[in-house]
Amino acid sequence: MTNTILIKNSTILNPNVNDCERYIASVLIKDDLIAEIGDNISEDNVDKVIDGEGKILMPGLINTHTHLSMTLFRGFADDYSLDTWLNDYIFPIEAHLNEYFCYIGALLGAVELIKSGTTTFSDMYFFMEDVAKAVDEAGIRGVLSYGMIDFGIEEKRNEEITKFLELYKNCNDAADGRIKVFLGPHSPYIASKELLVKCKELADELNTGIHIHVGETQKEVEDVLEQTGKRPFEYLDDIGLLGPNVVAAHAVWLSEEEINIIMDKDVKISHNPCSNMKLASGVSPVADMLNHDICVSIGTDGASSNNNLDLIEEMKTASLLQKVSTLDPRALSSEETLAMATINGARALGLEDEIGSIEVGKKADLILVDTDAANMTPDSTCISSNIVYAANGSNVDTTICNGKILMENRKLTTLDEESIFKKAREAIVDLKALKEQSE
Ligand code: NI
Repeated sequence: MTNTILIKNSTILNPNVNDCERYIASVLIKDDLIAEIGDNISEDNVDKVIDGEGKILMPGLINTHTHLSMTLFRGFADDYSLDTWLNDYIFPIEAHLNEYFCYIGALLGAVELIKSGTTTFSDMYFFMEDVAKAVDEAGIRGVLSYGMIDFGIEEKRNEEITKFLELYKNCNDAADGRIKVFLGPHSPYIASKELLVKCKELADELNTGIHIHVGETQKEVEDVLEQTGKRPFEYLDDIGLLGPNVVAAHAVWLSEEEINIIMDKDVKISHNPCSNMKLASGVSPVADMLNHDICVSIGTDGASSNNNLDLIEEMKTASLLQKVSTLDPRALSSEETLAMATINGARALGLEDEIGSIEVGKKADLILVDTDAANMTPDSTCISSNIVYAANGSNVDTTICNGKILMENRKLTTLDEESIFKKAREAIVDLKALKEQSE
């Protein structure tokens, strides 16, 4: 039996259209797909009608780089450089993670994603089958990669590859096709050349993607230069890793040559401005990359270096950071920034035929933003202006993924947020106790 939802008379905001002309229409969802867009769709035989009047209907947002379970480490180690934060704080506590902690962290992250309008996220972390379980229960869409780290040790490398293969076998295309599995070599500085080459082989063989951190800090560039004689993107190109199926998170420190490599190899970028600013990593040359027609999408990174997963806030930060660093107020207009968080995200994950815009035949991943709020009044001339510069995640009223309502009038339908908050608070206390016991 077909399940149908009709969203009536909302203002439609699509990426890459002239959004200064108000376009009001209704959208009919049949099962997981957008079936019809128009102004005269009959309500007859429709299972559920949502009144979209006065609301903005837009594609669900796409967060192309995060570590969902790290929501447990929100506020855990602030105000350090990446190197100190990672080596002195994050790695020591991560050593005590298990299936349960990652599951609870992922559920907490899922609550935050749904409540702030993100329907698809790309994740790299550990115990990913438990993250997949959380994705399945939450009803969101996830591209999951197990973070592979071998420090050049062969035995560790083989273990990491086995873990990836298990995750791929058990979870790729799971949860009604909402889960995809990518390779996740952590970065060129803690994944060896052998591991990176193997990841490339497996990605080609399985026709899947590669999710990796590249060019995040000056220290990384110096370290990779010292180890290989090349800058990070030059090195990855040299060993044959780069291609259109690679999503490189950060890409902060780039030479002109590296920008050309990224363009030539059609590598997709995930820009994480809050994390880059908080860890004082630097400013990614996003406006320059967009001028080179490079596909730049947006990610929040983990909640320990952000410290939230609100992609609407992230859009504003991305735009303002480019304006102030280039001293050009036209850099990253609201329309351009909105495209980064929707259709560019879909392209980055190889899902542009399915998600990222409101089109008949695409998956029904949609959000409604309530404009009846002080920070959304009056209506902006161009609709994306209030979304990017004035809104935040709490203006999202309804979230739909794969044709299923996950939040309506800010009430979650798939997850019990109070019980998840309680378990998450307990989990971080237990995790810190485990760490202290081991010291
Ligand atoms: Ni990251």
